[in-house]
Amino acid sequence: MSQNVNIIIVMRILEKTNVSKKAKIIIIIFFAMASTLFCGSDEEKINLTEEISKKATKMYAPPMVKTLFAKVKEAGYKDSVQFCSEYALEHTAQSIAQIEENMKKEYKISSIKIGRTSLKLRNPQNMATEKQKEILKEWEIAQKNKQELKPVYFKEGDFYFGMAPIVINSPVCLGCHGGGEARDKEAYEKIKSIYSDDKAVDYNLNDIRGAIVVKIAY
Ligand code: HEC
Repeated sequence: MSQNVNIIIVMRILEKTNVSKKAKIIIIIFFAMASTLFCGSDEEKINLTEEISKKATKMYAPPMVKTLFAKVKEAGYKDSVQFCSEYALEHTAQSIAQIEENMKKEYKISSIKIGRTSLKLRNPQNMATEKQKEILKEWEIAQKNKQELKPVYFKEGDFYFGMAPIVINSPVCLGCHGGGEARDKEAYEKIKSIYSDDKAVDYNLNDIRGAIVVKIAY
């Protein structure tokens, strides 16, 4: 669409110039080819972002949740506070840094960062960009309307992003992210001592907690 608009603009400009007919045709063909090339590669990168994000998310989320659940079962909520972070992956076969390094090599990309974000943050370092906030809000509306929550892949500035929804899918999450009785009192005292500005509470089962964010530079 925008590609056609660009060519039309070029044609309009050329109409007003004294360039020969032959030169005009060459210029138009050049612009058409160049814009197709650029649009094509952008689309390819979005497709590749989808592939990489899906793979990274699969390597990242399930082992982390598994380690967290095992830790809560073994040691209780208070002593598991660190396990809802990258720290949990240090206790599995692959740390987050190793996953990132492997993906970087496999896909020959300049950088990849796997992280999380939310509209109600516990760790302020996980802050969402404006675009990410918009997507999180759209998912909340979709969730209210009982629509399917779909991951999204997009470009923002120099980076490509993959975002997948994180839903409170277990009562275990509520021990540290719930409200009232559901939240573990001792664990929350510890959480507050580390994250003084914590907003990540009062969630219910099936609420959208946030998103996994895969940030890629090609
Ligand atoms: C034992 C306590 C505990 C449990 C149980 C727990 N979390 Fe967390 N959660 C935390 C802590 C602490 C952080 C901050 C981690 C960090 O510094 O990145 C956090 C951060 C997060 C974040 C990152 C966004 C933010 O607010 O900084 C998401 C998303 C999240 N938790 C989802 C979940 C989900 C989903 C579950 C259930 C599968 C869960 N958590 C269970 C303690 C917990």
